[in-house]
Amino acid sequence: MKKEEVFRLIDRLERDHSLQEQEYMALLDNQETGAPYAAPKARAAADRIYGHDIYVRGLIEFSNYCSNDCYYCGIRAGNRSCVRYRLTPEQILNCCGLGWQLGYRTFVLQSGEDAWFTDERLCALIQEIKRRWPDCALTLSIGEKSRESYAACRQAGADRYLIRHETASPAHYARLHPARQTLQARLRCIRDLRELGYAVGIGMMVGSPWQTTKDLAMDLKLIEDFQPEMCGIGPFLPHHQTPFAGFPRGSTEQTLYLLSLIRLICPHVLLPATTALGTADPFGREKGVLAGANVIMPNLSPVGVRRQYELYDGKICTGEESAQCRGCQEERMRSIGYRVVTDRGDPR
Ligand code: 5AD
Ligand code: FES
Repeated sequence: MKKEEVFRLIDRLERDHSLQEQEYMALLDNQETGAPYAAPKARAAADRIYGHDIYVRGLIEFSNYCSNDCYYCGIRAGNRSCVRYRLTPEQILNCCGLGWQLGYRTFVLQSGEDAWFTDERLCALIQEIKRRWPDCALTLSIGEKSRESYAACRQAGADRYLIRHETASPAHYARLHPARQTLQARLRCIRDLRELGYAVGIGMMVGSPWQTTKDLAMDLKLIEDFQPEMCGIGPFLPHHQTPFAGFPRGSTEQTLYLLSLIRLICPHVLLPATTALGTADPFGREKGVLAGANVIMPNLSPVGVRRQYELYDGKICTGEESAQCRGCQEERMRSIGYRVVTDRGDPR
């Protein structure tokens, strides 16, 4: 494809926020030309809405017990070497308290699919967090649940929910997960969450095994159709104790390009520069912001358990105290001319 044609597609995406699947494929096939052209446009789109403000979310990884068996993930049920932990509700509340002191006004509670956290326990925890810190937004990232459970958590005060679709292709989904986990079930969750009034975050890994350009184009089309409030993407990174141990990691450059395209599709989307991106490249998160991201998620888990929430090898920020991690991110954003802001950062 000629350079001018690639530029014209990106111009059209910037203007219409929509392309056909084939056109997304053409853009992905022309990354060398497209990425340097798309990134400044994506950054300008984010600047027009959010300025140079970067939102922070305090991430609390409160349990690594998981009944799912995703082939890519280090905390999958089948990983017998994974040392399991579960924070008590009290410990989780202490994390929030520390987070509040550090200026966080959004807490993200993330875990594996852990049955110990029944609706009753979850709702009690959610209510207590909202009672103690009523000015904070609460985001859940705890996997697939019944519509009733989602409704109960929403009723208890949860505001947002992160649940990546992982891949929009049913065939590709089936190669990343055992048969009992389906894309259909995942999409059901995503739609229920939207209907229940959550701000919803979807997303995918970049460069997961067998992913094709068409799969990624389908992901972009899903993002365009669903218009998520948030979108989490990061490179696939192998974990040595999973079936995907031997696969190569996803590309930082392709992840950055996708961040830019997603920003152009959904200018308002809250788009994190993820830990996986920061793990793949020492300046991954800074590059992510310059490509259009506007959220960072410093780790707020107790340092003692950090290393056990190991979704992939080499995860960064596992040795740092929460305050250090906070300061480090602040400085990283400052170094590229952006500032960390501490309001809730609700979707606009
Ligand atoms: N590499 C990169 N991302 C991963 N995730 C899980 N395992 C890996 C991995 N090996 C992502 C998934 C999941 C999110 C919590 O982390 O997309 O939804
Ligand atoms: Fe966590 Fe740098 S962001 S230590």
